Amino acid sequence: MDERKKARRYERISTQLKELVSKSDEPIARMATICAVLHHKMDHYFWTGFYLLKEDKLTVGPYQGPVACQVLEKGKGVCWSAVMQEKPVLVPDVHAFPGHIACDPRSRSELVLPVFDPRSGIRAVLDVDSGQPAAFSQTDVRFLEIIAGMVYDR
Ligand code: SME
Repeated sequence: MDERKKARRYERISTQLKELVSKSDEPIARMATICAVLHHKMDHYFWTGFYLLKEDKLTVGPYQGPVACQVLEKGKGVCWSAVMQEKPVLVPDVHAFPGHIACDPRSRSELVLPVFDPRSGIRAVLDVDSGQPAAFSQTDVRFLEIIAGMVYDR
């Protein structure tokens, strides 16, 4: 998808999601809504979901797509990298990322963003995977940061 078309689609999705998440301040309900909308509206997504950070563990939360790993080994892979760096991690080729955790061999590129609660810091990550290499760009980062910010928005 070209970058302008992608940005326009994200703009529409962000507006729709802002309205949808305003119905409940329950983070899990918001995460589930975000996954469902993103996964069905973005053609380049193969897996869309959240991993929850609790007691030093990353455990799968709401998601859409093929069955994923339930718990991610601490300190390894793209999701833990986003937690440790507290910033988005964009991986154009998962095979070139040392320690990448392959929940599904069809996944070729990935983007993971931290999800912050302004009161208590990082609480989860938003992970999107694609079956195509280099499917994600700074456009995805820019809009998904806004969308990840909706989970704990009060
Ligand atoms: N690839 C991730 C694991 C989660 S799956 O992509 C759904 C990682 O390396 O942390």
